[in-house]
Amino acid sequence: MSSYNILLLGSGGRENALAWKLRQSKLCKELFIAPGNPGTAQLGSNLNLSITDFEGIKEACIEYQIDMLLPGGEDSLVAGIYDYVKNDAQLQHIIVAGPSKDGAQLEGSKAFSKKFMQRHNIPTAAYQEFTEANFDNGIAYLQQHKLPIVLKADGLAAGKGVVIAQSHDEAIQAFTTMIKEALFGDASKKVVVEEFLTGIELSVFAFTDGKNYVLLPEAKDYKRIGEGDTGLNTGGMGAISPVPFAQGAFMDKVVERIVNPTINGLAAENIVYNGFVFFGLINVDGNPYVIEYNCRMGDPETEVVMPRLQNDLVELMVKMGEGKLNEVTVTHDQRAACNVMLVSEGYPGSYPKGKLMTGFDQVHGSILFHAGTANKEGEIVTNGGRVLAITSYGDTIEDALAVSYENAAKIAYEGKYYRRDIGYEFQ
Ligand code: AMP
Ligand code: GLY
Repeated sequence: MSSYNILLLGSGGRENALAWKLRQSKLCKELFIAPGNPGTAQLGSNLNLSITDFEGIKEACIEYQIDMLLPGGEDSLVAGIYDYVKNDAQLQHIIVAGPSKDGAQLEGSKAFSKKFMQRHNIPTAAYQEFTEANFDNGIAYLQQHKLPIVLKADGLAAGKGVVIAQSHDEAIQAFTTMIKEALFGDASKKVVVEEFLTGIELSVFAFTDGKNYVLLPEAKDYKRIGEGDTGLNTGGMGAISPVPFAQGAFMDKVVERIVNPTINGLAAENIVYNGFVFFGLINVDGNPYVIEYNCRMGDPETEVVMPRLQNDLVELMVKMGEGKLNEVTVTHDQRAACNVMLVSEGYPGSYPKGKLMTGFDQVHGSILFHAGTANKEGEIVTNGGRVLAITSYGDTIEDALAVSYENAAKIAYEGKYYRRDIGYEFQ
């Protein structure tokens, strides 16, 4: 195989972990990250470009002779970066590890993904969808719905478009503001109302060429800000891999009932889909249900999945481009990998930025993935809600977390917060 110039889009902990993994490959010639962060700057060249500036991305692809494009997050995929590249004579040779605009609808529209699951008999919560046009039916539907009630904005809402209402009044109020006052902008003009499922969530990842797929190590993230899974939802406060119950009969059901019908369903509907499929699942009494699909890797899951993936990621992308993922066997590191996310005080609400960070040189035995940091005159400062993912290996989840927590204590900045109970169900 020859070697490849790669452009990775994004600037979070996920992209730092992807860059870390790509950089380890002999097949990676030059690595560019747009816009990147101080962590990715240590692994390749950051380009000062927005991920939805397709013209700018095109110029960069030409200037740096890019052979492979990996969009880290959903925004550029839902906006159609795949189709943009494939419809441009100067770019269409580039391998894009991501779905077409149609494929990205699995994440971009809750209504689309629910209908897709129905068409292919994929287990998911029962639901109805509503808009301004059938608003009154929606109110009547909510009034007789079993509690709690899950309401989801149809479109992308940066992980914030879900309301879990504990009373009918709360549900009706949320529904009304979502539709009438566009609580989540255009994203909530259409609302999916679904039944509440009880169980433990996990994230399963497939990497597909549209026909064949490989499964990557699974993970579980911790979404709530507070210990014991309390308080507001965040982008993710930590992650563990493996997930102890994700094996044997349960994983067989995941493959047979969910992964196979998803990949086959996309192919049968002629939806062009390459790259990652993120299955957000819930284990209901031993049976998996889909909570959501995402068309990219998870964050902070990537920061534990990439460390456990033993295959060369660039080689996987080459095989994907050739439609030959059936020739690949994926191996997972038998060790556990876990991370703890350091965040800024106030997150997921408003938080300060620009706080000086110290202690990096005291960290031993963990990998640091920058999420929201910036370089200010040679010093690292905070620059986001989620600041730094601290990933460690261990023989057990407990051992891996012990190392991450030791190192979490060594990084210092004003307003540092992290959950002390990541992985609590499995210790
Ligand atoms: P989503 O944006 O679809 O991932 O939803 C955000 C979070 O809301 C999920 O990770 C779950 O914790 C929760 N959630 C979403 N849908 C349901 C459901 N049907 N039953 C229970 N919890 C849900
Ligand atoms: N950690 C959940 C997500 O990336 O959507």
